[in-house]
Amino acid sequence: MNNFDYYNPTHIVFGQDRLAELDKLIPSDAKVMITFGGQSAKKYGTIDKVRTALQARDIVEFGGIEPNPQFDTLVKAVEVVKAEQVDFLLAVGGGSVMDGTKFIALAAEFASEEYQQILFNGFAPVPAEKALPLACVATLPATGSEMNMGGVITYQAQKYPFMSPLVFPKFSVLDPDLTKTLPKEQIANGVADAFVHVVEQYLTQSVNAKVQDRMAEGILKTLIEDGPVTLADNDNMDARKNFIWSATNALNGIIGVGVPQDWSTHMIGHEMTAQYGIAHGRTLAIILPNLLRERKAHKRAKLLQFAERVWDLTDGSEDEKIDLAIDKTEAFFNSLDIETNLTHYGIDDAGIDSIVNSMEKMGLTALSETGDLTLDIVRKILVATK
Ligand code: NZQ
Ligand code: ZN
Repeated sequence: MNNFDYYNPTHIVFGQDRLAELDKLIPSDAKVMITFGGQSAKKYGTIDKVRTALQARDIVEFGGIEPNPQFDTLVKAVEVVKAEQVDFLLAVGGGSVMDGTKFIALAAEFASEEYQQILFNGFAPVPAEKALPLACVATLPATGSEMNMGGVITYQAQKYPFMSPLVFPKFSVLDPDLTKTLPKEQIANGVADAFVHVVEQYLTQSVNAKVQDRMAEGILKTLIEDGPVTLADNDNMDARKNFIWSATNALNGIIGVGVPQDWSTHMIGHEMTAQYGIAHGRTLAIILPNLLRERKAHKRAKLLQFAERVWDLTDGSEDEKIDLAIDKTEAFFNSLDIETNLTHYGIDDAGIDSIVNSMEKMGLTALSETGDLTLDIVRKILVATK
């Protein structure tokens, strides 16, 4: 196991009927901006419940944060924060609203001509001294944004990840009832996103990190068990709770400590979202199976462990077990009604060129836990996924 630091200060408020506790969780003298997305949080009454819980506090609302949140939209929110002297941000929504709110929290302390500086640091921390405090009411289990320090913002039609310990949410309310209005495709996207978050931290090079490995395997098995149940049965609260907590633990940092990480599937997926508007989780499910096939030799030991411990494959040769595990992973995504070929999404040879060229422009030329996943290999993966 490699050396690591682990720090995660987010207070999780998990369970049904917990929204009223917002009153105790947010300082009574706070001036709060409630941020939300297109319409779901309003339409399904969550904003009303939040406002009721916040009682007499001075509240500003900022709606319209779109999926794959746009820099220009968020800048408008920052201007309101500055003009109204907001001092607490409450994100009500999915990953896009939570990520957008993290950006607002940082940008509120930047001069307007410096906002871009938040986005161009890759996975290194944003150079910032302070940020506004923020918290989340999470309505979509998928990204783990409710318990991590990252976000992804779209700027000039490219997705830019950013990281800062200043934007760990102070708390996040995870009320499973709030997720019951999700369309099935969003549940499927969330299962796929959480699954691939685990894989990108687990299916790398073995460093004998037993706790991280077994936690990762537990989360994957839970997603395999309870993701489809949540998709099929809106009223199965046990499955839904386990799915939600899986998604949070998939990317709250705990399984990624002291182990190599490979975010290649995400980097390729981000280009597919930026260029074709395909939902984030879906892009990952499309890419992962052929990425694993292409990297079979490289990831061999961990793929075998994945086959044996996650898919319980005990018969056959090592190669057979690995191949079957990858096939089962793809079939799992397909069982969630996620098509895993590019043609279905209208991506042809020219589209593959365009994805590869754009990755080159973004400097994404040496991906993976070992930095040897070149754009030639990205192209091979995309061609195999046609
Ligand atoms: O905008 P509204 O009307 O609210 O509708 C949203 C949106 O259209 C809807 N929705 C959310 N909660 C709902 C609901 N509809 C009905 N009932 C509810 N309870 O769902 C749609 C998608 O929402 P979005 O927030 O975009 O989805 P998700 O949570 O999957 O977030 C995706 C974003 O997160 C980033 C992605 O790149 C993408 O921009 N990621 C963030 C990460 C992080 N912060 O650590 C890591 C991830 O890998 C990912 O990159
Ligand atoms: Zn993701």
